[in-house]
Amino acid sequence: MTTNHYYDRDVVSIRDFTRDELEFLFNFTDKISNFSRTERSELGKGRTLGSIYYEPSTRTRMSFEAAISSIGGSSIGITDPKSSSIEKGESLSDTVRIMDLYSDVLVLRHPLDGSGRFASELSTNPVINAGSGSEEHPTQAMLDLYTIYKEKGKIDGLRIGIIGDLKYGRTIYSLVYGLANYNVDIRLISPPTLSIRKESIYGMERKLKIHEYSELPEDILSTLDVIYVTRIQRERFPDIQEYEKVKGTYTIDQTTLDKSKTDVSIMHPLPRLDEISHSIDSTNNATYFRQAANGKEIRAALLALITNEDLV
Ligand code: NCD
Repeated sequence: MTTNHYYDRDVVSIRDFTRDELEFLFNFTDKISNFSRTERSELGKGRTLGSIYYEPSTRTRMSFEAAISSIGGSSIGITDPKSSSIEKGESLSDTVRIMDLYSDVLVLRHPLDGSGRFASELSTNPVINAGSGSEEHPTQAMLDLYTIYKEKGKIDGLRIGIIGDLKYGRTIYSLVYGLANYNVDIRLISPPTLSIRKESIYGMERKLKIHEYSELPEDILSTLDVIYVTRIQRERFPDIQEYEKVKGTYTIDQTTLDKSKTDVSIMHPLPRLDEISHSIDSTNNATYFRQAANGKEIRAALLALITNEDLV
């Protein structure tokens, strides 16, 4: 019998997971995606997901809730701090402690870097980091890697462009850390003021081929297998005037597709603003809605594995 390395485990950083563990999750996701509704509903029976969102969320929250419900469990949570005792001044640590009493697994989104690790140290039950400031969003990277693997049939050997706000976008840090398990060529494209934080990828250069650009050269665009687009993170700018200078810098549209590989996958963690033109939504290159759908499946598999020791 295989050991379930996910059982009772926190998901704070994607760096805590090996390539084998990630691939085990992808295979398990494929497996349960083919289960009947009845088979699936046995996986999380009686389990409660407790979520605490200090920042807005659409996909992450809804896909976690849809995921736990699809495996037979239920969810409770704070979706708006204003409607909870946080508004009265209750601390993060007390809020986590209380949620820990009522649930089997916790999901936390918070504007501060380090918040996921902090909560995991307080909680007796496993904590899943659903976004900690501009630091990390590990389950987003799990679903992003799974999407690449499903769309391309492999991750090794690909050339991946990551474009947009590489300074504040937490999804791209988790993605780059996750990709460091593979042999990939990464091209980073951002305005110079929004380039990747060097200290956060310290040591990664040894594992990854990374090149940076402020504009994407056409001879590179035509070689990309995946273009991962991100939103400029207005809420994280210390000075809104700096945001005004860079907003709307890049747009992926039909002209971009015309210069790209015919099978290029356009990905985005969403929400998008104007970085991807709606006019390409109906092309097969537009991968972002399939990516969002994969989020529910990956999270269902993850929740099932975290809450059941003897699943595999
Ligand atoms: C992202 C986030 O919250 O970091 N959203 C998501 O979870 N899919 C991306 C973003 O807000 O730009």
